[in-house]
Amino acid sequence: MKFPEGFMWGAATASYQIEGAVDEGGRGRSIWDTFAHTPGKVAGGDTGDVAADHYHRYRSDVALMRDLGLDAYRFSVAWPRVQPTGRGPANVAGLDFYDRLVDELASHDITPMLTLYHWDLPQELEDAGGWAARDTAARFAEYADLVALRLGDRVPLWTTLNEPWCSAFLGYSSGDHAPGRTDPGVSLAAAHHLLLAHGLGTQALRAALPATARTSIVLNLAAVTPASPADSDAARRIDGLANRIFLDPLFGRGYPADVRADTARLTDWAFVHDGDEAVIATPMDLLGVNYYSPTVVELGAEGPDGPWPGCGDIRPVVSGPLTAMDWPIDADGLTSILTRLRDEYPAIPIMITENGAAFDDEVHDTDRVNYLHDHLAAVHAALQAGVDVRGYFVWSLLDNFEWAYGYAKRFGIVHVDYATQRRVWRDSAYWYREVIKNHGTNG
Ligand code: NOJ
Repeated sequence: MKFPEGFMWGAATASYQIEGAVDEGGRGRSIWDTFAHTPGKVAGGDTGDVAADHYHRYRSDVALMRDLGLDAYRFSVAWPRVQPTGRGPANVAGLDFYDRLVDELASHDITPMLTLYHWDLPQELEDAGGWAARDTAARFAEYADLVALRLGDRVPLWTTLNEPWCSAFLGYSSGDHAPGRTDPGVSLAAAHHLLLAHGLGTQALRAALPATARTSIVLNLAAVTPASPADSDAARRIDGLANRIFLDPLFGRGYPADVRADTARLTDWAFVHDGDEAVIATPMDLLGVNYYSPTVVELGAEGPDGPWPGCGDIRPVVSGPLTAMDWPIDADGLTSILTRLRDEYPAIPIMITENGAAFDDEVHDTDRVNYLHDHLAAVHAALQAGVDVRGYFVWSLLDNFEWAYGYAKRFGIVHVDYATQRRVWRDSAYWYREVIKNHGTNG
């Protein structure tokens, strides 16, 4: 299984999940600080206060990346480090941290891929309405400009948002993520304002970045299938809310009519103003795809909406081999997402910006090696089928704060002992190093 010359091998992390140092360098509070410190929201009462202490250990963490042989590292910038209240001039000390990180990466020939928003919204913006408020999109574009002006000369790959589905629907519909709101109609406004932020942010990046820089968005696309033929309309509705509500406006088609109709009893969609869909369709250079697990759905008794607004009568079917998250394992779902993009959307280079799995093994993680191997094979199959995939980032470099699951779930190819902050390579890290060295595997 050989990958093309120049295929980019990376690993990914996110600010709140690894940095810690929440009170240093003038950082403000984010919605995740508030949420994690609210009893009952995160397993074990865990918070990102210390996390993997990456803020202080970034140099040795970059050395670890070098030893793995990574071509690229995907990280996110914490908005409240750059703008502690989400508005106004840059907090220079906050940007300094990312400046040092980017220089450290450059000194080891590791290409940075920078995500502007991986879920840590400044708390003061949430207090003003959060993603339910249109103004947050304008604030995001100003923030994007500040980061681009400082780091644009050294960062070639930019992402506006990570997984807006999670920000909108886990954050504002199911309430499993910060800010923990449970209003399905509002979650659709949040989804729109996130997409608007992406469009305005992309325009700000274009204006501030060198012409060679590449912009993108990262989506967690779902491979949706019905549990039985009777569930095919349920699968269509979930596909609308998981995939097409993002892909269609991003690629210039506006919001899908069926999604608008399905959700008409939750909202009148008046949050979409004239011209918004054109802004959302601002051209980008790459599409980032995160993939973990397939989505099999069936119709059932009406219940609360959960993460799919208006779909309280639909639930996921969990079966077959599972990861420690109880997520089903099916690598074919990744191939089907990639070939569908090729078949149904305009051509755009694709980056697999996250793929990985939580398992309970300490260091000998055969399950994770098998998972990663099978998913790389799925990417390889898509390449053979002519899909333009440019690279692959494993989630994650290190064990980290897994959101509502806290530190109990471990995705790292490198184990973190949180008591000592010692990093220990798992078998999957040694395996990945060989994959990178050989541009693929022999099996
Ligand atoms: C996707 C998210 O981007 C990341 O933050 C999270 O840790 C992984 N999925 C695993 O759940």
